[in-house]
Amino acid sequence: MINNKNKIWKIGLVGFGNVGQGFVRILALKKDTLLKRYNFRFKLIAIADPIKGSVYDPEGLDEFRLIELIENKGNIKSYPKGRKDIDSLTLCRSNDIDIIVEVTPTNVETGEPGLTHIKEALKHGKHVVTSNKGPIALAYPELKELAKKNRVMLRFEGTVLSGTPSLNLILEAMAGVDVNKIEGIVNGTTNFILTKMEENMSYEDALKEAQRLGYAEADPTADVEGWDAAVKAVILANVVMKGKITIKDVIRKGITKVTLNDVEDALRNGQRIKLIARVVKEGDSIKASVKPERISLSHPLANVMGAINALTFYTDNLGPVTIIGPGAGRIETGQAILTDILAIHRYYSES
Ligand code: HSE
Repeated sequence: MINNKNKIWKIGLVGFGNVGQGFVRILALKKDTLLKRYNFRFKLIAIADPIKGSVYDPEGLDEFRLIELIENKGNIKSYPKGRKDIDSLTLCRSNDIDIIVEVTPTNVETGEPGLTHIKEALKHGKHVVTSNKGPIALAYPELKELAKKNRVMLRFEGTVLSGTPSLNLILEAMAGVDVNKIEGIVNGTTNFILTKMEENMSYEDALKEAQRLGYAEADPTADVEGWDAAVKAVILANVVMKGKITIKDVIRKGITKVTLNDVEDALRNGQRIKLIARVVKEGDSIKASVKPERISLSHPLANVMGAINALTFYTDNLGPVTIIGPGAGRIETGQAILTDILAIHRYYSES
C-alpha cells in the first residue's frame, strides 16, 4: 500500500451544474472537518463547464467565492483569478490533477461527453469519481478495465440513490454477499411528482418544482419516461449482479400517463402508485423492468415519499436488506462524490 498520509489531493471538476455546485458547497463548508477528521487535504484546482464558465488556478480555487458567484450571477466567469480558457478534455489530461470529478449531464444513448472525459482521465492516470449514469450504464466493464490497467480508481456511488449508500453498500459494506433480486424506487423526480399529485398538485407544477429543487435531469423527459430509473437498473444489474444488460433489455414505462384521477383512485382503494424498478437474476439471465405499479399502503415501499428513494437487496447471507434515503439533489449527490473521494484518500493514505 502506498503511504501518502499528507498528500494534498488536487481535484478537477468537469461540469458545474447541480451536482458540481452541491459538491463545491460541501467542500467549502467541510474543509476544516475533513482535515481534522480524516487528515484529508485538497485543492480544487479547476472547474470546466461550457455554460457556467471555466477557471484553472494551480494554487487552488476559493470554494466560497465560486458558490457566491454561481448564486448571484449564475456563472463563474468573473472569478477574479486564474486562467479561463481551460476546456474539459485538457483538464482530464492535465498533469496537475489527481482526481477528476465528472458531473456533466447524463446522456443515456451515447454517454457523452462524460464517457470521453472518464476514459481520457483514466488513461492519463487520474482517479475518477462520477455521478454520471450514462457512461457507467454503457461501458462499465471497459471503464473498470481501463482503471485497473492505469492503476487508478473509478468510483460512482452517486449514480444510484445519490449519497444514500447503494453500490458501495453492496460492494464494500456487504462484500461477499450474492444478490438475486433488487427492487425499489430509484428516481427522485417521479416519486416527488407522484407524492405531490396525491396532494392535488398538477403533474406539470410538480415537475417544475422538482426541477427547481435540482432533482430532475437536465432534460426531465429522462425522469418521467423512466429512462433514468432504467439506467439505474442497468447499473445495479451489471455492478451488483455482474450482469451484461443494456438499457434496451429493460422493460420500461414512465409516469407521463398517470393522471390525478389514477392517483386518487389508487388511494381510495388503499393503494399508492409508485414507479418500481426491479432487477431479478435467474441463473445466468437477468430481467429488469421499470413501471408504475399500484402497491398496497401497507407495502414497505408505500411510505417512501417525495425525493426519497429506497432499495431492497435480496441477499443470500443476510436475506432482504433495505436502504431508504435521498435519491436526488445537489447536496445529496455531492455527498456521494465526497464519500468516494474519501474512499480513495483512505486507500492511498492509510497503511
Ligand atoms: N434525476 C434523478 C432523479 C437524479 O430524479 O432521481 C438522481 O439520479
